[in-house]
Amino acid sequence: MIYQGKSLSAKLLADGIVEFSFNAQGSVNKFDKATFDEYKEVIVAINNCSDAKGVLVTSAKSTYIVGADITEFLETFKQPEAALVPWVKNASDVFDAFEDIQLPTIAAINSVALGGGCEMTLACDYRIADTSVSIGFPEVKLGLMPGFGGTVRLPRIIGADNAVEWMSTGKAHRADSALAVGLLDAVVAPDKLYQAAIKILKQAIEGKLDWRAKRQPKLEALKLSPLESLMTFSTCKGMIAAKAGKHYPAPMVMVKTLEAAATLDRAGAMALENTGFAKLAKTDAASAQIGLFMADQVVKGKAKKATKQANKSINKAAVLGAGIMGGGIAYQSAYKGTPIIMKDINDGALNLGLSTAAGILTKQVERGRLNAKKMAIVLNAITPSLSYDNVKDVDIVIEAVVENPKIKGLVLAEVETVINDEAILTSNTSTISIDLLAQSLTRPQNFCGMHFFNPVNKMPLVEVIRGKDTSDETVAAVVAYAAKMGKSPIVVNDCPGFYVNRVLFPYFAGFSQLVLEGADFVAIDKVMEQQFGWPMGPALLLDVVGVDTADHCTGVMSAGFPTRMTKLDNDPVSTLYNDKRFGQKNGKGFYDHGKDKRGRPMKIASAAAYDLFAPHCADKQVFTSEEIIARLMIPMVNEVVRCLEEGVVDTAAEADMGLIYGIGFPPFRGGAIRYLETLGLDNFITMADNYAHLGEIYQVTDGLREMAKSAKSYFFTDVKTAK
Ligand SMILES: NC(=O)c1ccc[n+]([C@@H]2O[C@H](COP(=O)([O-])OP(=O)(O)OC[C@H]3O[C@@H](n4cnc5c(N)ncnc54)[C@H](O)[C@@H]3O)[C@@H](O)[C@H]2O)c1
Repeated sequence: MIYQGKSLSAKLLADGIVEFSFNAQGSVNKFDKATFDEYKEVIVAINNCSDAKGVLVTSAKSTYIVGADITEFLETFKQPEAALVPWVKNASDVFDAFEDIQLPTIAAINSVALGGGCEMTLACDYRIADTSVSIGFPEVKLGLMPGFGGTVRLPRIIGADNAVEWMSTGKAHRADSALAVGLLDAVVAPDKLYQAAIKILKQAIEGKLDWRAKRQPKLEALKLSPLESLMTFSTCKGMIAAKAGKHYPAPMVMVKTLEAAATLDRAGAMALENTGFAKLAKTDAASAQIGLFMADQVVKGKAKKATKQANKSINKAAVLGAGIMGGGIAYQSAYKGTPIIMKDINDGALNLGLSTAAGILTKQVERGRLNAKKMAIVLNAITPSLSYDNVKDVDIVIEAVVENPKIKGLVLAEVETVINDEAILTSNTSTISIDLLAQSLTRPQNFCGMHFFNPVNKMPLVEVIRGKDTSDETVAAVVAYAAKMGKSPIVVNDCPGFYVNRVLFPYFAGFSQLVLEGADFVAIDKVMEQQFGWPMGPALLLDVVGVDTADHCTGVMSAGFPTRMTKLDNDPVSTLYNDKRFGQKNGKGFYDHGKDKRGRPMKIASAAAYDLFAPHCADKQVFTSEEIIARLMIPMVNEVVRCLEEGVVDTAAEADMGLIYGIGFPPFRGGAIRYLETLGLDNFITMADNYAHLGEIYQVTDGLREMAKSAKSYFFTDVKTAK
């Protein structure tokens, strides 16, 4: 052994081969501060080993290296940009020092090499991977670009256009595509990886392979003529400008860095990478996207824990109601391997539910993502039924019948007598109190809400709603089942609107009030889409959700929070509803919905809607983008804060992920709490206080004022107990 650290080791094997092995104490290898310190020592040890003739870089884990330790990023990135440049240079210098070892080097890549892990392999002369490899640069998904030499080495290995494609999409590639672009020199079966890597290394040691010639291009300028360079980079910039847009600066900074570095040697190019990385690390988008990654880990971690704790496993399910939601739930359960009975009282609905599932599957087959055999297996796992006969032995029932408390109560009570005592009952209600529905049951401990979002196959969120009698075992089993269905479950407490709708409706209220004051709903949609970044503005979202559904929910919220969420007089949503303009579902709402010449959906602002609003609205008024954003977002943020204070949702991480997964909150803003913290608590309070006269939804809580005063972060504070 020529070096032994906590995560890294270097051992001299036969024939002068040094095996430099990554074996971190946790489950995966990653570059954290401690690993970097050891990495420097390994390089010294190799350089001092006079018997060393070549270096083999391996992982003792089931994966290679998953990247840099992202949990260290947010704290590190608090430093000023000027301090971050030397910080990242310090790291890229280590990779350079490894690359400069005067011996041939090879990476034997098993399974996963992402980000910094992939950069480690680029610093080697040769790269061989096993067939299961997943390799790439996900940095852009964190609002960053590679910072350990990736932007310098990758284009010099696979060409500038391929490098831009790899780094700007952040996609992980499989062995065949990495081999095709020349990132990998060879791909072998996992059990052959080690010996095959040794064989290549020996050939390099023996001079049969010219490793110096292989290394040389990585140390020089890119081999592109000025014309080729102009063509390559202008095409790339055009594509990135169109795709990424202004809210996601990372891909453009990255391609401009590559362009400026094209004529420089490694040292010059690396200096540009260092400054580009530091610049991106300081953007709001990077801190939001890194925060999002960590919040997602919290949600996934909780689901994993619940799966471990769950003492009831769900092997067979039933859904009651084969409508829009029931059909989607049946598809999703069957697709992810849990057979499901789909029960309805109406034969036509069952056929519709099945054809919805078949339609989703057919599309996947057409796109080559699924074969006909798997499609048949999924469809066979859905059993349509008009009776409860097949429901008797299921482990879980998801009730998804019409949104009517009486009918739901009856259906739940009825099915409870059919299933066995341990089976779990859930409701997909979007508005009815779980505690109210539980009153119809004799085993309320086995009951909770399981709120899916439409369309079920596409929307990642499931709110698992805990009633006052729901047992921990029930919650754990339902969370585990939702995760098994490929969803991201978030546990919330019962209250009107649960979590997502509770915070969405104050936002809609802000919108309605602005329209009544004379704002144009099209202008509001434009600002909220283009400036704030929502996938659709509030008027279009109301049309998509359904004006009837929204009007009903507004009533529920107003009954639940009578002073704060009072139904507005002449609310535009109610005005449309009273005129039977239900939105996309009947082709008319705020917009008239139709199809263009090519059959694609299209919409135009409805003249009829303007006419209906006119008698109730003030004269047309133009509001600034800042005011529109403030008037809609303050009520949402305030309500999220209230949900945290009341313990409706456990953590800021889950609160943010709920909005990202449930209603498409712009990811580059990281969620409502990340948005609040990016603005700064004091700034938000000042802004909200300006509008406090408009009503309770604009008034910040004492808890928020307290947090601001003591300079606390919602991400590091248990808000419920801190109150
Ligand atoms: N549509 C959405 O966007 C959405 C989103 C989240 C939650 N939800 C909730 O999901 C539930 C279902 O909504 P949907 O949009 O699928 O409704 P839907 O009207 O499309 O379907 C309801 C189905 O229930 C069936 N049904 C009625 N009584 C029944 C009974 N006694 N036994 C079995 N089946 C019965 C009906 O025949 C119909 O097929 C509602 O509680 C709704 O609030 C809907």
